[in-house]
Amino acid sequence: MTKINIEQLIQAAAQARQLAVAPYSNFLVGAALLTRTGEIITGANVESASYGLTCCAERVALFKALTDGKNDFVAVAVVAKAPDGATPCGACRQLLAEYAPNAGVFVADSRALKKIHRYTVAKLLPRAFTGDALG
Ligand code: THU
Repeated sequence: MTKINIEQLIQAAAQARQLAVAPYSNFLVGAALLTRTGEIITGANVESASYGLTCCAERVALFKALTDGKNDFVAVAVVAKAPDGATPCGACRQLLAEYAPNAGVFVADSRALKKIHRYTVAKLLPRAFTGDALG
């Protein structure tokens, strides 16, 4: 994947962030998944007055993609207004480990989109529990 692709993916996440529904935290997050075939699927966080029902941007993007038949992901970008950006939470790491285990994770602060921090799903959640364990 070229640097330009990653920058485009970050841009897509930044754009998706504008559509976050986060009236309680006002912490807007955008995510963008890249499939092996070059498709981008975006999502943003959606909050509930019953706070625990909130769904993170990463999972919204993942659920959108999966239920649209897309399941071969090479990268995910996450943009939030936070120093050095926000890496996926534990719940999102679990879902990413199950459905995007080989993906690169690219994170940026919405105020510094060109400063991209690079991780992998495997690095963020080593020794993940997966369906393999269920036999
Ligand atoms: N959030 C995300 O969407 N992704 C993350 O990686 C971290 C947290 C959301 C959940 C909630 O709506 C808000 O950010 C504050 O936690």
